[in-house]
Amino acid sequence: MRVLLRAVKQIYRQPLCNAASRKRSIASSSEGSGLLQPRHEKLIFCSTAELFQELGGNVEVRTEFISEEEESAFMKELEQGLRKKRYEFDHWDDAIHGYRETERDRWGAMCTGVLERLRTVAFPKGSTLLGPVHVLDLDKAGYIKPHIDSVKFCGSTIAGLSLLSDSIMRLVKEDDAAQWLDLLLPRRSLYILRDQARYEFTHEILRDEDSVFDGERVPRQRRISVICRNLPS
Ligand code: OGA
Ligand code: MN
Repeated sequence: MRVLLRAVKQIYRQPLCNAASRKRSIASSSEGSGLLQPRHEKLIFCSTAELFQELGGNVEVRTEFISEEEESAFMKELEQGLRKKRYEFDHWDDAIHGYRETERDRWGAMCTGVLERLRTVAFPKGSTLLGPVHVLDLDKAGYIKPHIDSVKFCGSTIAGLSLLSDSIMRLVKEDDAAQWLDLLLPRRSLYILRDQARYEFTHEILRDEDSVFDGERVPRQRRISVICRNLPS
């Protein structure tokens, strides 16, 4: 798993566009009617309505995917182990800044239940999941630079729970920075990136200073993500 995490983190791209080029254009989720469920409205802010339609079910955010009690159960299992590690800040070549991480394959009953629920909704039937679940603890000052997860080690789907803080995930088309989507990831939500969204777009988690969704400030606190991936088929 160390190898995987390193590979995942090293395959990243420099930022492809700046905030100025991301000023509001047409996009709004209601214009993409039909393809996405109502629960997605206001959680996805997109460069164009066409892109919103095109990506359709390949990007999903499900709010309140876990309860406060379930979030506490994850924290109870994770906090002690994480606290022993130091946040890493200084590796310029790392895709992630201000983080500590761990991986885990055995969980208590409540977390196991959540992870089963996650796997059922996020992954294609019959896909083989990467054994251990990846846990990433971002300091309040931490952020994830634009990158694409290793295609060698990870399959078509990436699904993550967000604990402790709201945040913004930005997707930018690898070969066309004018095509982008911002996802509002509320605390205790689940996000899912599939296929095209996972392979053709970089993803990143914005730093607190840049954390603005559709003109509205979204303060970033310390954030823990619990990420499941499948294996390449
Ligand atoms: C990663 C990543 C996103 C998240 O670790 O590759 O993109 O939600 N994480 O923490
Ligand atoms: Mn990633």
